[in-house]
Amino acid sequence: MAAAKRYYLTTPIYYVNDAPHIGHAYTSVACDALARFKRLDGYEVKFLTGTDEHGQKVAKSAADAGMGPQAFTDRVSQHFRDLSGVMNLSNDDFIRTTEPRHARACQELWRRMKANGHIYLGKFAGWYAVRDEAFYDESELVDGKAPTGAEVEWFEEENYFFDLSKWQQPLLDFYEANPRFLAPRTRRNEIVSFVSSGLRDLSISRTSFTWGVPVPDESKHIMYVWIDALTNYMSAAGFPDESGEYAKFWPADLHMVGKDIIRFHTVYWPAFLMAAGLKPPKRVFAHGWWTSEGQKMSKSLGNFLTPQDLIARYGLDPVRYFLLRELPFGQDGNFSHAAMIRRINTDLANDFGNLVQRVLTQINRNCDAKVPEHGEFADADRALLGAAHGLLDRARAEYDEQQFHRALEAQWEVVGAANRYVDEQAPWALKKTDAKRMATVLYVLAETIRHLAILAQPVMPGSAARMLDLLEVPNGLRTFSSLGSSGALKSGTALPKPEGVFPRYVEEGQAKAGG
Ligand code: MSP
Repeated sequence: MAAAKRYYLTTPIYYVNDAPHIGHAYTSVACDALARFKRLDGYEVKFLTGTDEHGQKVAKSAADAGMGPQAFTDRVSQHFRDLSGVMNLSNDDFIRTTEPRHARACQELWRRMKANGHIYLGKFAGWYAVRDEAFYDESELVDGKAPTGAEVEWFEEENYFFDLSKWQQPLLDFYEANPRFLAPRTRRNEIVSFVSSGLRDLSISRTSFTWGVPVPDESKHIMYVWIDALTNYMSAAGFPDESGEYAKFWPADLHMVGKDIIRFHTVYWPAFLMAAGLKPPKRVFAHGWWTSEGQKMSKSLGNFLTPQDLIARYGLDPVRYFLLRELPFGQDGNFSHAAMIRRINTDLANDFGNLVQRVLTQINRNCDAKVPEHGEFADADRALLGAAHGLLDRARAEYDEQQFHRALEAQWEVVGAANRYVDEQAPWALKKTDAKRMATVLYVLAETIRHLAILAQPVMPGSAARMLDLLEVPNGLRTFSSLGSSGALKSGTALPKPEGVFPRYVEEGQAKAGG
């Protein structure tokens, strides 16, 4: 029997020091599109997201808000949980690091690393940046600050250490043996060179505050927040119970992360896991960062973009589409309202929306509102259908590399080809001269739209469902196994009255001026 197709993917768990912004939504939407793609492609998927609730940074935010950390994290975590509804995320689980299932997993991971001789007690003296929850070497500081610009503080404590220095060669061997482990390539090169330059042992416990998971068999120490945070990916899979979900889903297929947290995911995390005798994840993909109107997002600059505001203005699916289409996934980019509006009016309204609208309107008017009968296919018909049938393989290859923008580009090539085909075949003119040919042309177009809509589901689930409703595609025939001629539209199926799926975006002022 073929091995079961399973896929486990994760977002980073978000710090609960603030409300979600579009940067957080970006990671989550990318994972959501991939999770949906894999489900449609026949995989059993586990898609995890959640919140990172321990550590000094969160404790400080709670204190600033005049609240106890538990009450504070309960409140802020809920905003991230709500993001699933706001962004239509299909996550299967939501983990909070304050849950008992998580403490259990952290403590067991610790015990195993310790039992294998990789944890020892020592004295730490060095620089720590609370904002990054990270340690820095003196040599890394720039003008007395962390290289990220975060304030650092000197701190000295008795800490437990992880013997990271011993993992240099095993990590380099691991990267070598697993070329897909870290992408994009530039990031991989950065990490290989960072590890090649030597690693220092890592302080992994704290005694100066208490908001964390207790170190097993210890009264004074809590775990360093990144050991705690990274372990979420295993606690949500049921670890330390190694049967059940863990047996099914570990090692994870993909940890999606922003470029700022690669080191934690591709150096510390595989080292911790190997030290505990466990398997590292299969892949980590680091995406870029969004700026807003050319600047880092900040509340004081007034360019802080919340998912809610953007959706209220542009609609949910256009926002999801924009995020995944506008930037080559992996690179940094800038959000501007002008670019958003361009994507809505060009790609969605003019290209895709108009294609669907004009084809369905002609079917409604000239084919008795039924899927038309088709005759023999001509070369042009076969070319367009062939392009539509070929999309799945192209999309699969791009999704497996997390190149969402390229999968969408491939799809829009077919949108463009379909629009050219409509113009060339001019079905409206065939009505009087060759009604049979008109029916074939409209059939080919409807079938092409079916493919485009099925493949648009991961990125724009709501709009794609509306298109499939307009084509009367039954719910059971919307997965990728229905692509190609096996699931082709049945001639004679009555279709509902067409309605626009992607309206143009009109500025309020213009709408008034235009009446
Ligand atoms: N809690 C840690 C992650 C622990 S994972 C075991 C953390 N949290 S975070 O809330 O600060 O960031 C979460 C994710 O949001 C990161 O992947 C980060 O890169 C991403 N982004 C935060 N701001 C962003 C932009 N402006 N643009 C794109 N992504 C951004 O780090």
